[in-house]
Amino acid sequence: MTGPVVVLSRRLPAAAERLLAGAADVRTPAVDRPLTADELRSAVAGADALVCLLLDRVDEALLEAAGPQLRVVATVAVGYDNVDVEACRRRGVRVTNTPGVLTDATADLTLALLLGITRRVGEGERLLRAGTPWRWDLDFLLGTGLRGQQLGLVGFGAIGRAVAVRAAAFGMSIAYTARHDAPADVTGPLGARRLPLAELLESSDVVSLHCPLTPQTHHLVDAAALRSMKPTAHLVNTARGPVVDEAALVAALDAGEIRGAALDVFEAEPAVHPGLLGRDDVLITPHLGSATEQTREAMAVLAARNVLAVLAGQEPPTPVG
Ligand code: GLV
Repeated sequence: MTGPVVVLSRRLPAAAERLLAGAADVRTPAVDRPLTADELRSAVAGADALVCLLLDRVDEALLEAAGPQLRVVATVAVGYDNVDVEACRRRGVRVTNTPGVLTDATADLTLALLLGITRRVGEGERLLRAGTPWRWDLDFLLGTGLRGQQLGLVGFGAIGRAVAVRAAAFGMSIAYTARHDAPADVTGPLGARRLPLAELLESSDVVSLHCPLTPQTHHLVDAAALRSMKPTAHLVNTARGPVVDEAALVAALDAGEIRGAALDVFEAEPAVHPGLLGRDDVLITPHLGSATEQTREAMAVLAARNVLAVLAGQEPPTPVG
């Protein structure tokens, strides 16, 4: 197929590749692994569109390597901290992401982690797999129930709200931080109250992070924030790793400043801070927030629709900014 050149940094679900191939010359990577920065720079030369993943850094050097014909960078993720949006804007390159289609999957995984850490699911599973002798007992592996506990959501966008709906069904009360009050039709049924961050951290039984990674949210949960939390509290992070200072988290757990943490994202992915690995008060999963078959296909198809819209001179369905 001739036509505009669409470079994929990684193979996409077939439905998305088919959609693109109907209107463009789709260039797929030759290797079955994420491309290095050098490889991506070579791959993108001459592209009209780039479909990338959250692992790919889209910076000045990459845009320069692509050339002036580049019109759109479509990242297959809701978070776009890997893309220098300002540099794209300066060059007239549109940036798109994939919000909405992954909200339920990510909220579901957040609840899985919240339940898993508060009910010590990982710890129990590890105990059985290790062949440790056990028996049912009144005080064996007791966790904390959720009814009546406060969930503090840092960030109250689509995913934060979807987590709130689920947590409310478990009997949790909902607090959130955000720049503005959420609409009454969202907060009313949940009884959700907006609190300043400091107050939310001090008063919540579970703190769950749902903010984007920006210079302002980098290490938002640092040593001081952790120290201000209840010693019985749990931290859940399904947003971006660098929102939490991992070294400070390990120190806070060592010092008993919080009871536990459940993390799907890490500061230096795929590396995990070694201090987190051996602990029973930590539940860790490898960035699985949107990892369902249906969701990944929907994300890739949405990215493809964004590309096709920009290449056709139309407004993309989900532009960034
Ligand atoms: C996943 O982390 C995403 O941002 O979509």
